[in-house]
Amino acid sequence: MSKILITSALPYVNGVPHLGHMVGCLLPSDVYARFMRMMGHEVLYIAGTDEHGTPSEVGAIKEGMAVEDYCTKYHNRHKQTYADFELSFDCFGRTSSAQNQEMTYHIFEQLDKNGYIEERTIKQLYSVDDARFLPDRYVTGTCPYCGYDKARGDQCENCTKVLDPTELINPRSTISGSTNLEIRETKHLFLTLPKLEGKLDAWLKTKEPFWPDVAYSIARKWLKEGLKERCITRDLKWGFPVPKAGFEDKVFYVWFDAPIGYIGITKQWADADPKNRNWKDWWYDAKDVRHVEFMGKDNVPYHAISFPATLIGTEEPWTQVDYLKGMSYLTYEGGKFSKSANRGIFAEDAVKEFPADYWRYWLMANAPEGSDSSFSFDLFAATVNKDLNGVLGNFASRVLKMTASKLGEEVPAGGDMEAVDRELIATLQEKIDNYIKYMNEMEFRKALNELRAVWVEGNNYITVTEPWSVIKENPERAAAILRICINLIRIFAVISAPIMPQISKAALAKFGLEEKDMPSLKDFNVAKEIEALKPGHKFTVGDMLFERITPERLEELKNKYGSNKQ
Ligand code: 2FM
Ligand code: ZN
Repeated sequence: MSKILITSALPYVNGVPHLGHMVGCLLPSDVYARFMRMMGHEVLYIAGTDEHGTPSEVGAIKEGMAVEDYCTKYHNRHKQTYADFELSFDCFGRTSSAQNQEMTYHIFEQLDKNGYIEERTIKQLYSVDDARFLPDRYVTGTCPYCGYDKARGDQCENCTKVLDPTELINPRSTISGSTNLEIRETKHLFLTLPKLEGKLDAWLKTKEPFWPDVAYSIARKWLKEGLKERCITRDLKWGFPVPKAGFEDKVFYVWFDAPIGYIGITKQWADADPKNRNWKDWWYDAKDVRHVEFMGKDNVPYHAISFPATLIGTEEPWTQVDYLKGMSYLTYEGGKFSKSANRGIFAEDAVKEFPADYWRYWLMANAPEGSDSSFSFDLFAATVNKDLNGVLGNFASRVLKMTASKLGEEVPAGGDMEAVDRELIATLQEKIDNYIKYMNEMEFRKALNELRAVWVEGNNYITVTEPWSVIKENPERAAAILRICINLIRIFAVISAPIMPQISKAALAKFGLEEKDMPSLKDFNVAKEIEALKPGHKFTVGDMLFERITPERLEELKNKYGSNKQ
């Protein structure tokens, strides 16, 4: 057993998450956390809301609220949505917490002491009409690299380039829309990344054999282009005040304290319950910890370059990322999700329409790994009807109904293993081994292909063995076949648990079993598990595990969520 620290990128507190946010980091990190726990590892799974910076200030202004109240309101909304999606965080915290402030100050003071912080006077956009500087998202304009006309001052979300607000073409104030902007001088603190380049390069090389191509190549490209000093303070009110003489009226830049939030939130978790392990066991001189981070591709530069460099600059033994899973984007019918244009389904609405597991399964089976993928209600309904209801749900219901009506509501006794049964065991063992291998490697689409193939084997087996005819001539053999099929339902419930925890629970409940009764996935042995439910074990047929999506319902969904609008 090893200790696995799993973090999901911390979503900005402003706004509500859509399916793209769910699959971009939160859901895959949960699937991986659940899987790793079932593999017998000690897991600490951390996430939370990213609360500082211009997005929150701008959002609070729009809603006429105090920024603290605004953040609390949206933090709670995020938290509820993720609970509805069954995300199994050990702690879902906040970057604005006192614990994160303490961590941020410590790290800053170390960097300063070690000579990696420099004061500089810079030129910044100042809005005469708004009477304030316009850092980051307070400015909108055209990206000088790709021409996207709604690029934000800190990063172009179209081409992912990290920007300086003064680079934008035709800049305007995000608050008032004013173009009456001037460039004025202001004093700020910079993290001297070029001084850390050598150490960062050496550290990155140790990761080369392990990191997925996309994350590694983004990091390498940045290093090749040469690192620039990075401004880590802002002329804002909302944020951690800078603890340095002459900078008291400034706050830290959101991207400085956000990743430190992983540590701060771990401390929130440790402080909340004395039973919890000391946070240092995960973060400080914790050589037995493997840290896996999940994020959208636009976050990779910060996690592969700026944050590791920040930690290196402290000259303290902080836990660094061991594996970085960068996801591409999910689009909505090929376009952008947009709340204002009522295009796309947002996570809090999604769980009102269908149980979380329907979404979890679809999103993981179509995860944007490598390249972008697109959600559509047609694809979603086809998957629910075919894979979930057709293959998995029907198998379970058919087997239990047949057994109950012909032999009673308990696992039947009698009959021996035959060649076809041994072949099934061998095939399933191979497919489940592949599934576990891909889950270990975080190759989720491949893993879900194997999972589906396992369910299909169950259907093939019952088609070939025909227990409904065999029972007339040879009831003992039919009993053996149905006993195997019943055990398959339990096996399917166990292996599907990281992806579909609710369905897994519902399927296990049919046998009076609970989550805690599930065997480990480590060394999962089909020959053993196929005999786990013994003759005489009671079951209930109960409800179908899934509901079909009818053509009428599909049409209704498309109208409601904007698919029929183009
Ligand atoms: O892109 C985002 O949504 C950022 N809020 C991610 C921050 S991840 C971490 F560094 F906090
Ligand atoms: Zn761009």
